[in-house]
Amino acid sequence: MLFGLRRNYLMTNEIKIGKSDVTVPNTLGLGTNKVGGHNLFDDLKDENGYAVVKEALNSGISLLDTAFAYGNGRSEEIIGDVIQDYDRSNIVLATKAAHDPSKNGEFNNSPKFLKQSVDDALKRLKTDYIDIFYIHFPDKDTPKAEAVGALNELKEAGKIRAIGVSNFSPDQIKEANADGLVDIAEDNYSLVHRGVEQTEFPYLQENNISFVPYFPLAAGLLTGKYGSKDGSKFDQYSAQQYQTIISALDKVREIANGHDATITQTIIAWYLQDPAISVVIPGARTADQVKSNVAALDVNLSQSEFDQIDQLFQGF
Ligand SMILES: NC(=O)c1ccc[n+]([C@@H]2O[C@H](COP(=O)([O-])OP(=O)(O)OC[C@H]3O[C@@H](n4cnc5c(N)ncnc54)[C@H](OP(=O)(O)O)[C@@H]3O)[C@@H](O)[C@H]2O)c1
Repeated sequence: MLFGLRRNYLMTNEIKIGKSDVTVPNTLGLGTNKVGGHNLFDDLKDENGYAVVKEALNSGISLLDTAFAYGNGRSEEIIGDVIQDYDRSNIVLATKAAHDPSKNGEFNNSPKFLKQSVDDALKRLKTDYIDIFYIHFPDKDTPKAEAVGALNELKEAGKIRAIGVSNFSPDQIKEANADGLVDIAEDNYSLVHRGVEQTEFPYLQENNISFVPYFPLAAGLLTGKYGSKDGSKFDQYSAQQYQTIISALDKVREIANGHDATITQTIIAWYLQDPAISVVIPGARTADQVKSNVAALDVNLSQSEFDQIDQLFQGF
């Protein structure tokens, strides 16, 4: 773990997103790729998606992380429907675009495409502003500062409130932030995928850019529901790495038991207490998963437990 200070004192305090005026009341958000993401996952039902978003908002979660790519706009539409019954000013909407439907989903960061994407997302979300808008993936051609410049125009027009980049390499983040306009970066990070601690965190911290990890539960692996025999479902890990993860999760279970918590809640609590992370956005398939994950806010790990979990997953 790169930064020594844990953040339990901040868990109930507002988090500020980069240099923007967006604040998030607490550090737990919701990932929504299984809300309407029919193009990405089998067996999803819209009714479960509606229930997931409602459960999150009813439980005090305010940041909802979505994207055009989740169901080609369906995730945004479901969220747009649900938020009509809530106070918009308490909700932080984060969405993304880059997949260009007119080019078979190829990434497009051109100013024209990004501006059109924001207008289209506003319609699906049925709102007149987006709190955080990310360029979902970098494209090959558009100079990064030009793409971010277009988002800055949208920010000045009041259509978006904070500028984000996602899946940008460290060099691409620097290029995008040439004029100091990037507020937030979203990237693959979890206890079993920790590269950005070294490659991105120092630059982000020095430049007041917030960080949101995606796949915080490693797509379910870190929930503890998979065992020694399920390694083939996670073929990005060698057999030896997979067994190390399963053994580490057994130790996390012992820590969890001491808090009357689940492994998932304990893992989420670890991120919540890491000051390098602004908001944690675990995804959920069901409202029950959301309900259970929200209880992570009540798990207060001691410094020694925090360090122990950190050590268990060193080397990933
Ligand atoms: N910027 C990007 O390019 C990018 C890429 C990927 C994701 N994202 C965002 O990041 C969010 C988080 O990533 P993710 O959702 O893919 O992965 P994740 O948060 O690592 O894992 C979420 C999955 O774990 C399972 N799960 C969650 N809570 C559980 C519980 N309490 N008990 C048992 N299983 C539980 C559910 O899947 P099952 O029930 O199906 O097992 C859930 O869909 C996404 O929803 C999306 O908003 C962004």
